[in-house]
This record gives sequence, C-alpha cells and structure tokens, in this order.
Amino acid sequence: MRERVFSGMRPTGKVHIGHLVGVLEKWMELQKEYDCFYSIVDWHAMTTDFEDPSELKENIFQLLADWLAIGLDQENSVIFLQSQVKEHAELHLLLSMLVPMPWLERNPTLKEQVRETHIPKINYGLMGYPVLQASDILMYKGNKVPVGVDQLPHLEIIREIVRSFNRLYKPIFPEPQEILTKTPKLLGIDGRKMSKSLDNCIYLADPPEVIREKVHQMVTDPQKIRRGDPGRPDICSVFHYQQIFSPGKIEDVRHGCEAGTLGCVENKNNLAKTLADYLGPYRERREQLIGSQEKLKEILEYGANKARPIAQQTMHEVREVIGLWS
Ligand code: TRP
Repeated sequence: MRERVFSGMRPTGKVHIGHLVGVLEKWMELQKEYDCFYSIVDWHAMTTDFEDPSELKENIFQLLADWLAIGLDQENSVIFLQSQVKEHAELHLLLSMLVPMPWLERNPTLKEQVRETHIPKINYGLMGYPVLQASDILMYKGNKVPVGVDQLPHLEIIREIVRSFNRLYKPIFPEPQEILTKTPKLLGIDGRKMSKSLDNCIYLADPPEVIREKVHQMVTDPQKIRRGDPGRPDICSVFHYQQIFSPGKIEDVRHGCEAGTLGCVENKNNLAKTLADYLGPYRERREQLIGSQEKLKEILEYGANKARPIAQQTMHEVREVIGLWS
C-alpha cells in the first residue's frame, strides 16, 4: 500500500504565488508517489473568523478553483471540504481528552499568531486548533504531512497525541512525519514575506495588466537610478523573482544589471511577461472553474464521498478500541 499524505489549507481567499511555488507545487509532486488527501479546512478557518463568516463559502470556491487549476487532481487525490466529513468533529472531541492544557498553552505557533494578529482573546476552539488538525491527519492514518516550519510545533503536539492514544487504547495510528515545504521562498512585491494582510501578493488570478503594475512597484537597487548605473542584483526584488521564474536567463540578467546595460524598467517588463506567461494557463483554468459553482460543488461532493467511508471506518475502529458504542 502506498503511504498517505495529508495536508490542509484554510479557505481565507485566493491563492498567491508564494503558496504556488512554496507549497502547492510540492503537493502536486507528492501526488505521484503517495495517496494524497488535501482538505479545505473550513472549521480551522472558523477558529479565527467566527464573528464574520460571510465570505467563507466564496473563499472555499476560490481556493478549490485555484487548486484544480494548478493541477491537483480529484481522481488521483482525495480533495475535500473538512466540514462535509462530520467524523472529524467526533475524533476531535475524543482526542481532546488526551491533551493536557499545557501542551496547548505553550504552543509557539499560537503565541506568534496572537502577537502578529492582535487576537484580543483566545477562544476554546482556537486553543484546540492542533487537536482538530490531529483529527484531520489521523482520520486517514496519514504518514506524511507537507507543512511549513510554522506548523512544526503542531506536528509535535499531534505526535504526542498519537503516542498517548496508541499507549492507552491500541496502536492503530502511525506517527505522522512532516515534509517541510519552503515557506518564505518567494517574497512579496515589497521584499517582505508575501502575505495577504501586508497587501504585497501576486495572485494566480491576476491578469497580465495587474501583474505588470505590481512588478513595476517592486523595489530594485536604490543606487541604480539610470539604466547605465551598475546595479546589485542580490538586493533586488525583481532579480529574486527571476531566480525562481527564469533560472535559465539568470546569468545574463546578473551581468546586464551589474554592467549597467540592462535597465530596471526593461528588466521589469521582462519579468512581467515571464510571470504573465507562467500564470496565464492557471488563470484561464481558474476563471472557467470559478464560473461554474455547481461543478465545484459536485467536485466537493465527490471528494467527500471518497473521504467519508475511510473516516467512518476509522471512527468505527476508534470507538471499538476505546470501548464506546459504535
Ligand atoms: N494548520 C494548517 C495551516 O494553517 C492547516 C491544516 C489543517 C493542516 N489541518 C491540517 C495542515 C492537517 C496539515 C495537516 O497551514
């Protein structure tokens, strides 16, 4: 049997190209080697967005369209919406008994989130975020979990939960291992971490004119004022992107910039074109998909129908080994 991969993303809006190069291209690759479960984790989104969930449904469609446009394949992988498989809630509840509060109270990911987003009060659901995440992975007996470094503390908690469960009842769950995805591989157009809240993202959905406008806002070497001035590509955002999107031409760009034969405006035009060509096919596919919400709903239904029997089987086993009525 092939090993299983599980990962999830919260539906908070459109996918930006930082997700694409950092995470989703990895997810794509894993489809070849593993049985993959990719979930849109709307209950996780609720832990912070519970006061105004009005955009949740729309965001689910946006995320799904992006995933499918990139090439995540609903035949090959199980692509599903967390809240359509209610078993996750039951497993979350049962696992919560195994979690001493201090594990959650010292969770560095939560502390950072509180610091960064100024969450005034931590609710019980947010506190239990890693436990819900454990229920996602364990439900499908996931072996490998592609995540960014920020999620490593959660994986540690999840492994502790698995060890407790296996020791107390029966060893039915594997200890999931992370596959590290490179989170800050691609910086935002202002040179900071690419993030929706910083408003510095390029989205898969951006048409060529928008890409062009954003590329022209990028910061280059401030000492290179005119075309003839020698530039320092290593501190230039445009060059940073070109290393990723046009590796074949990178030496020419470096040389042209340093020698002063390549101007920033021309180089930005080149990058805008490269990005527009790279993202064009994704954007066209996502536009088609987003235009048909009925079809997207069917795809979610299809995924939930594949996930649910596995979840039911796991829950049957869980109740059995704990000694609950099934
Ligand atoms: N916590 C993850 C994030 O914020 C999302 C997530 C939910 C997840 N359940 C998961 C990731 C299970 C990996 C496995 O990025």
